[in-house]
Amino acid sequence: MRVVVLTGAGISAESGVPTFRDKGGLWEGAKPEELATPEAFRQDPAKVWRWYCWRREVISGAEPNEAHRLLAEMEREFDLWVITQNVDGLHQRAGSRKVVELHGNIWRQRCTSCGRKWEDEKACMGIPPKCPSCGGLARPDVVWFGEALPGEAVRKSFELAGWAEVFIVVGTSGLVQPAAQLPFVARGFGAEVYVVNPQPTPHVQIADLFVQDKASSGLRRVFYELQNKGPS
Ligand code: OAD
Repeated sequence: MRVVVLTGAGISAESGVPTFRDKGGLWEGAKPEELATPEAFRQDPAKVWRWYCWRREVISGAEPNEAHRLLAEMEREFDLWVITQNVDGLHQRAGSRKVVELHGNIWRQRCTSCGRKWEDEKACMGIPPKCPSCGGLARPDVVWFGEALPGEAVRKSFELAGWAEVFIVVGTSGLVQPAAQLPFVARGFGAEVYVVNPQPTPHVQIADLFVQDKASSGLRRVFYELQNKGPS
């Protein structure tokens, strides 16, 4: 069975990583739309870096949860890909191998002067970090509002949406494009759509099954449904 899973911040909530738009997701009262932008970085790179360093610290103390692990287990049973909007790397740490990162990775940064990219294991080496090659200002290698997504990741995601027989949407508010479009594309190509979220989202309207639950128990239920569905 060809299965594609779109994940958002909600899948990492049980690992203790705050989501963006739920209660408690704000950082110093600022919305992500006010921090994750090229304008915010131009105006105050240190402030934006403080937010990312705080997030790195939270993520470095977090472990993959049952929902991440279930997806790794499902990859062994089905022909399964994960498309994630998350930058935390927890899917890979849980053992998923076929992962498309639509919004980049928080552990990577790139120089705004020479373009060099490098990974950092520590929360932050100084704020704002400097490029080890040219001393230029570094920025997180993630996608901000108003910026283009990595072309290859977008191409692959839309291809997967057309390829899926089952498309599972877990822990995303469905408010940020183009990721939010993917379940609709999959549906248009005939996939069955499953939504796992404690709250209704815009994807519920096209869902064959809406599991109103947190990611771990909700995915456990979906896994069971798929195992009992038999070959399509
Ligand atoms: P949001 O913070 O917008 O939404 C989190 C979703 O997770 C909501 O629908 C919650 O109901 C749900 N949720 C909360 N706890 C959950 C749990 N335990 N299990 C399952 N679901 C749970 O996060 P995203 O949709 O991922 O982009 O946000 C999309 C993008 O907006 C992010 O990738 C980021 C942000 O700005 C960039 O930084 C470019």
